[in-house]
Amino acid sequence: MPDASWIAREFPQADGLIYLNHAAVSPWPARTAEAVQRFADENVRLGASRYPEWRRAEQALREQLARYINAPSADDVALLKNTSEALSVVACGLDWRWGDNVVSTDQEFPSNRMPWEAQRKWGVSLRRENLWVDDAEAALMAACDDRTRVLAVSSVQYASGIRLDLKRLGSFCRERGILFCVDAIQSLGALRLDVAELQVDFAMADAHKWLLGPEGIALFYCRGEVRRDLELRQFGWHMAHNAGDYDALEWRPAASARRFECGSPNMLGIHALTASLSLLEEAGQDAVADRILENSRYLLDNLGAMAGVELVTPAAAGRYAGIVSFRPVQEDSVEVHRKLQAADILCACRGGNVRLSPHFYITRDKLDKALEVICSSI
Ligand SMILES: Cc1ncc(COP(=O)(O)O)c(C=O)c1O
Repeated sequence: MPDASWIAREFPQADGLIYLNHAAVSPWPARTAEAVQRFADENVRLGASRYPEWRRAEQALREQLARYINAPSADDVALLKNTSEALSVVACGLDWRWGDNVVSTDQEFPSNRMPWEAQRKWGVSLRRENLWVDDAEAALMAACDDRTRVLAVSSVQYASGIRLDLKRLGSFCRERGILFCVDAIQSLGALRLDVAELQVDFAMADAHKWLLGPEGIALFYCRGEVRRDLELRQFGWHMAHNAGDYDALEWRPAASARRFECGSPNMLGIHALTASLSLLEEAGQDAVADRILENSRYLLDNLGAMAGVELVTPAAAGRYAGIVSFRPVQEDSVEVHRKLQAADILCACRGGNVRLSPHFYITRDKLDKALEVICSSI
């Protein structure tokens, strides 16, 4: 883990601001702003004269992301607009049969519910399982039957912060021939996601949360063996095997996951995310995860010890990641959130809870300041 001066240089946030809102939209590191500035300057001075280099940057990002999630190949990675688009590519691409079902949880963000609900017209039902049980993974597995085509879960729930055991779910799915789809936006950049080890078929995450990148550029991992199981629903020049040969009348979809990218890439986002990801790589995936878990542990321990606070996020090891949510017993969450915001402590209200989400670079003194304000607000 780089030292405090590295952190101060990369995260020169406004004086007094305490940013505990990485589960919403994260601040960029300085190097990301510099990459965007360089790209903007180049556009002003040279337009797109160096477009072939931008194409190389695009491919380099796919390779960087593939390394980051231990995908077998960069061919398994598409660069899409956002998590919702990637989930829609999967849900709208499968060849549903009447009576199929999708198993999920009753805590998903709308983007991991709506695309599945939209398949109702093909006779597909969505089973939304309760996670507030002793063994959430067992409940999800028990909800699967021989008509279950997909198990679709968030790695970490956006409001409660519950983290699921993806390894256990992945191996269950692979044994049963069920597709395993992981909305990873609330963990990618915070916790290691090894798609090979976890036996994930589809994973998606936009850049603007734990990856510390901009909105509007997302990773979509699609396991090579199931890539052709997804019928394509969007079409354009960029997805063709011969992309760039505009005169050719014959085309077929690229063999790689580029087949899911229909038109012009988000070059600005590509340059920005490349920089953000390089920072996370430099800090080290495991070191970042350790620091995030330490921060969450600290908040869970201290909030848990406060009379007047009900912890929402489970405090058991393995059940939480970067989100710590709580509810004041006597006070309204909205009011406590308002007081935190008034003290320049950025966080969120989700699902009736106050949600704190510090990244790895957030120091203990900042957490203490937030705890102080919470203590005096409840
Ligand atoms: C779990 C989860 N999935 C999906 C989304 C939406 O992501 P996107 O805007 O990239 O579609 C969010 C945003 O908060 C989220 O928390």
